[in-house]
Amino acid sequence: MIDLRKLAEPGSIEESLLEKIDLNRLPRHIAVIMDGNGRWAKSRRLPRVEGHRAGIASVREIVETAARLELGVITLYAFSVENWKRPRFEVATLMMLLKEYLRKELATLMENNIRFVPIGRIEGLDPSVQRELRYAEEQTAKNTGLLFQIALNYGGRAEIVDTVNRIMTTLREKEMTDAVIDEAFFGDHLYTANVDDPDLLIRTSGELRVSNFLLWQIAYAEIHVTKVLWPDFRKQHLFEAIIDFQSRERRYGGVEPGEQEMFVEQQSAEGDSEK
Ligand code: IPE
Ligand code: IPE
Ligand code: MG
Repeated sequence: MIDLRKLAEPGSIEESLLEKIDLNRLPRHIAVIMDGNGRWAKSRRLPRVEGHRAGIASVREIVETAARLELGVITLYAFSVENWKRPRFEVATLMMLLKEYLRKELATLMENNIRFVPIGRIEGLDPSVQRELRYAEEQTAKNTGLLFQIALNYGGRAEIVDTVNRIMTTLREKEMTDAVIDEAFFGDHLYTANVDDPDLLIRTSGELRVSNFLLWQIAYAEIHVTKVLWPDFRKQHLFEAIIDFQSRERRYGGVEPGEQEMFVEQQSAEGDSEK
């Protein structure tokens, strides 16, 4: 049962937003492109890395809120395969902050029954980072609440290529020489095999692009872009994104429910008049 008292203080903005949310129609999986840390720091005349440091408070609040809303999955884009192009110091600081976060937050993840899973080319990260990730993943493996995926050294195209290679391995091992690949089989070889696709994709800082994130999985995600920079992104903004999501009509290429019947009626009326 969702405990509303843990989600908003009485009389707060969060409470008034929460009242607008239909708790029976929450997205099951929310994916977030956490962007704008550099600009947040720049606007304060601080070095970029201070933006990353400040962004950790947002991660903490959003993951905890997702758990309290009893969502199924949250996926946060933390480091892309393209982000290696950044200055060495920035990359090193990001990795240091990640390790620090994992060490500090493990207890909270356990308390909130959160299962932590990194996705991406994890083998390409520094061994000390891999160790911390593995430890957090193992410790939380039996938790049954929110699945918290963090995308690290992640690229959507890299994932698709890795998937093709995994499929080739399966085919070789199982000697499936005549196999015809379908979408379900492909999906079962993604990093996110067994995880439902995101219903809602949030991007902070106003940029209108997907930057190589979950290309296969976001085929039918609703997209919410906010100008809020990631270090300023709080529970209130997550609630706003969910309200926006709930105002959308998801058609998956079909027509609105109700529209179908109208069309049939119209056709039969036209048919009648031709008689
Ligand atoms: C997002 O913030 C964090 C990472 C990509 C690691 P940025 O560092 O991209 O911030 P901006 O886009 O430069 O403001
Ligand atoms: C996307 O942000 C990657 C992450 C949030 C980890 P970037 O800041 O790297 O993306 P671009 O360069 O604006 O497309
Ligand atoms: Mg950016």
